[in-house]
Amino acid sequence: MFDRNRQVLTLDEFTIQQYRTIPNATGELSTLLRDIALAAKRINVEVNKAGLVDIIGDAGTTNVQGESVKKLDVYANNQMVGVLRHGISCAGICSEEMDDIVVFNDEMSNKSKYVVMFDPLDGSSNIDTNVSIGTIFGVYRRISEPGKPCQLNDFLQSGLKQVAAGYVVYGSSTMFVYATRRGVNGFTLDPSIGEFCLSHPDIQCPADGKIYSVNGGYFSQYKENVKKFINVLQNKTRQDGGPLTQRFTGSMVADLHRTLIKGGIFLYPLTTENPDGKLRLMYECNPFAFIMEVAGGNASSGSQRILEIIPRKLHDRTPIFIGSKNMIEECLGYLNS
Ligand code: AHG
Repeated sequence: MFDRNRQVLTLDEFTIQQYRTIPNATGELSTLLRDIALAAKRINVEVNKAGLVDIIGDAGTTNVQGESVKKLDVYANNQMVGVLRHGISCAGICSEEMDDIVVFNDEMSNKSKYVVMFDPLDGSSNIDTNVSIGTIFGVYRRISEPGKPCQLNDFLQSGLKQVAAGYVVYGSSTMFVYATRRGVNGFTLDPSIGEFCLSHPDIQCPADGKIYSVNGGYFSQYKENVKKFINVLQNKTRQDGGPLTQRFTGSMVADLHRTLIKGGIFLYPLTTENPDGKLRLMYECNPFAFIMEVAGGNASSGSQRILEIIPRKLHDRTPIFIGSKNMIEECLGYLNS
């Protein structure tokens, strides 16, 4: 029975509780996460009324990736940039929607330890049809001298250097999930109090799963060893005798949230159309690789651990194979055979 006296921790309470246990912690990361959660709540409000107001549809421009920009993408990007600029914990940002880094360059921001890279609204081609979409972010400790404006090198770090990473899924409920090296925790938005509340403590990705996630429409464009592995998945028998299930929403956040909770594998291999892969290393793959590894899963480009890739430029792309530990191991066995 529901216990009305049960103390449910909010995201703020949880992060404060965490930093209190770390000697010499300044609370900067907690503040940063609170700022991102504020942006997420604002984005959530707009996503929820997307069908009611004239906000769906194209904004009429293309982003740096050459993809059409939806109005909600623009709104979400502005919210993320706004909270991080006005907060006290971020020296600068880089967004999938922007050509270059944004250096905040004011006295308070220059003193900050962190820079943030994000995809403000992933899966935005799904907006018009009400499929779950999300925000993804990775937090890096800057390597340039604090007190001065941050620099490009602060952003071009490998994913291993993330101090935290997370995502928000705007789905049947809205969830904020974030990881530090200490663990992965999920918070569900309670609309009655407007707070993210701890609902999924210490998330662990099961070592095996029953679901694989890949865009089968590109099958003919995949390399032979990828096709071979997909064939294996198609013909695999679960322990209880049935076949595996195949699911692909077109929103990485939705597919990877499910993979994280239930186990499974998500594949986005390179294609002839996208010879470097489609998904962005810095805004999509690194944050999820970090979260998945902390949760006990794995993430690879096929030839390298995602988190060890040294980015050459801000908008690099990579193929990705990510999910349950044993399924990734099996996958890499085929890819490297
Ligand atoms: P976008 O944000 O431009 O809609 O891209 C979404 C990404 C990712 O979330 C998803 O897994 C993938 O693109 C789907 O692309 P395809 O439909 O081309 O496979």
